[in-house]
Amino acid sequence: MAILDDIRRFWDDDAATYDNAPGHRPTSAAVQAAWTAALEALLPTAPSNVLDCGAGTGFLSLMAARLGHRVTALDLSSQMLAKLSAAAEAEGLDIAVVVAPAHEPPMAPDGHGFDAVIERHLLWTLPDPVAALRAWRAVVASNGRLVAIESMWGDSDRLEALRGRAWDLVKRWRGTAPDHHGPYPAAVRGALPLGTGTHPRSVARLVAESGWTAPRLVRLRDVEWTSKLEQRLPERLLGVVPRFAIVAT
Ligand SMILES: C[S@@+](CC[C@H](N)C(=O)[O-])C[C@H]1O[C@@H](n2cnc3c(N)ncnc32)[C@H](O)[C@@H]1O
Repeated sequence: MAILDDIRRFWDDDAATYDNAPGHRPTSAAVQAAWTAALEALLPTAPSNVLDCGAGTGFLSLMAARLGHRVTALDLSSQMLAKLSAAAEAEGLDIAVVVAPAHEPPMAPDGHGFDAVIERHLLWTLPDPVAALRAWRAVVASNGRLVAIESMWGDSDRLEALRGRAWDLVKRWRGTAPDHHGPYPAAVRGALPLGTGTHPRSVARLVAESGWTAPRLVRLRDVEWTSKLEQRLPERLLGVVPRFAIVAT
């Protein structure tokens, strides 16, 4: 698929600076603690076999490994995974990495299936999220679960779109560096079903459409709260994007 080559190129080029953006790594011990508590509550009891799809530089993979899970990190971009491996090595964590597209997940190392397939902020950049979600279902154990961690952004909701625009204005006023090395190619974004934003409604619908059952939504309020406490004025008045996880079996 040609579009996957464009997507891979974007993330390979982004790998060097991805972790500089505050949303791409915990910005304080409190934010880190909130993310760790959230992930611990969403995952099965450790140790379990976890597949992190679109793992990037390791935001979730590193946390899951620290919690005692056996983690396989999958990503289309070898450069993003190189960053993940370097971080894992620095901490003495053992994380297996697989360079592959999300719709071609590997089998679990012990052949019994993964206990959990997790992702954070991957679904929006998939040309066919349903195909990927279906493929993940085929590699989970019989009692395995999906943990899709997303935020509400973009044009999916009018109020969130306004908040996003206000944030962009404040960032420009402060001269804050952008979150990425460049804009996502417009032609790529236009070909992605969630390319202009994610909403709990659209994520829950895609998860159900893919054959996962009993979707449950968990709002990640402590992550939102601790992130907000890190902000200066006037950013704090604008608030933070709502974060949520959809868990399904
Ligand atoms: C927004 S980043 C999220 C990274 C990480 N999960 C995090 O929370 O920081 C999206 C990641 O998905 C990867 N990605 C994009 N399309 C993919 C695909 N089709 N298959 C696998 N990974 C993909 C990118 O290379 C990138 O690392």
